[in-house]
Amino acid sequence: PSARRGRQCGELKIGDLRATALTESFGSPLYVVDEDAARATARVIREALQGEARRVGTEATVYYASKAFLCVEVARWMAEEGLAIDVASGGELAVALAAGVDPARIGFHGNNKSVAEIERAVRAGVGTLIIDSEVETGRIAAAASAAGVRQRVRLRVNSGVHASTHAYLATSHEDQKFGQPLGEAARLVGDILAHETLEFVGLHCHIGSQIFATDGFRESARRLLSVYRELGELAGSPIPELNLGGGFGIAYTSAEADEAPQIAEIARELADIVASSAEEFGIPIPKLAFEPGRAVIGQAGVTLYTVGTTKTVQLAGSDAAEDPADRGYPERLYVSVDGGMSDNPRPALYGADYQVRIANRSSEADPALVRVVGKHCESGDIVVDRDELPGDVRPGDTLAVAATGAYCWSLSSTYNYVPRPPVVAIRGGVARVIVRGQTEEDLLAQSVVTGDARTNGD
Ligand code: LLP
Repeated sequence: PSARRGRQCGELKIGDLRATALTESFGSPLYVVDEDAARATARVIREALQGEARRVGTEATVYYASKAFLCVEVARWMAEEGLAIDVASGGELAVALAAGVDPARIGFHGNNKSVAEIERAVRAGVGTLIIDSEVETGRIAAAASAAGVRQRVRLRVNSGVHASTHAYLATSHEDQKFGQPLGEAARLVGDILAHETLEFVGLHCHIGSQIFATDGFRESARRLLSVYRELGELAGSPIPELNLGGGFGIAYTSAEADEAPQIAEIARELADIVASSAEEFGIPIPKLAFEPGRAVIGQAGVTLYTVGTTKTVQLAGSDAAEDPADRGYPERLYVSVDGGMSDNPRPALYGADYQVRIANRSSEADPALVRVVGKHCESGDIVVDRDELPGDVRPGDTLAVAATGAYCWSLSSTYNYVPRPPVVAIRGGVARVIVRGQTEEDLLAQSVVTGDARTNGD
């Protein structure tokens, strides 16, 4: 164990505002998004991917994968920073449209879009629908003819690349629910081309999420392009676009900081492989599209919690001491906070790691091994599984958990009737609510009291 994080100096500031000032104004727990940071990252990612595409003689569109975190404000930020928006449900589409996003700059995904969602998207003028399975081709074509439009579509395929990430986050091997085998592409594209109301613009592949090793992205791009010549012959002209999905991993802890891929490097490698594969397969370089979510917004978010209770567990002789990472610590301090798996289910779902610090004061106390846990009725309700905090961490302290901008609010629940916390954005030193928190009254209002078990509805 190192004393590295035992000594903390001063109060945490987020976007120039004191963490405690934020919880005093907006309550605890609290999601905080540094809007300036999110916008800056969105710009850096877009410029890197577009710059490298231009270097090899093509263009790139960068979609923000809104499932990571979406509300009207965030959709607006992304559009203002020049990103298009990727949605995966009618709800996400509604938010993007409400934000005034140009429908032509929306891509619509999903392995089971309802007919109503497809009709809505086509009528709204959504730029591209991604066909995930054969049955969707006819549904989208029918919606397009009803609306009297020709709809741009991509076909989602699996390149068969095994992305090294958590099993639930890998999406391009065959035995999972998304997309079609690359070997079926010619047949499926032939079917798409047979519909006059569909305009086939290219293949899509998303190999998975939170990926650190960039070789999977490169291999996937090359495999997709290996069928472009054949598809172009079917279509009678070169296939104009290629969408390589998202999935760029980020560091959640300082230990991961050196391993996480740099966007400049990913962009360069992908542009290079696309250019060299196009040459290898004798096709023009297609326009590129990407769909990062986590890499855009993840590190711009922080969750603030308040400590309610603590308890100490002796590790010597306990089963925990079997874990090499726990050796050398005499005890583990459980620190319970006022949120948990309802505002961040990622540790419970994926064994995700986070890092924590005290946000309201400095401390000279020696470091203690801590597990930060939530207030829910499950022992898997873990916020931070293993970290060090000053040993004097105590009830009333404010804790900050870093890198909670992606897939925390969007995956949140109201388990145990715990209302969702609000989301506050900070720009230029000013904080404002961008997503209202829920109240117990909001949750209670969902219960329908019929008064009579035989009536249902009126
Ligand atoms: N494009 C498609 C088609 C996707 O399915 C996804 C993510 C993305 C883009 C964006 O991936 P990103 O750049 O954010 O890695 N709940 C999980 C992540 C699920 C990702 C689902 N699809 C988590 O909390 O880690």
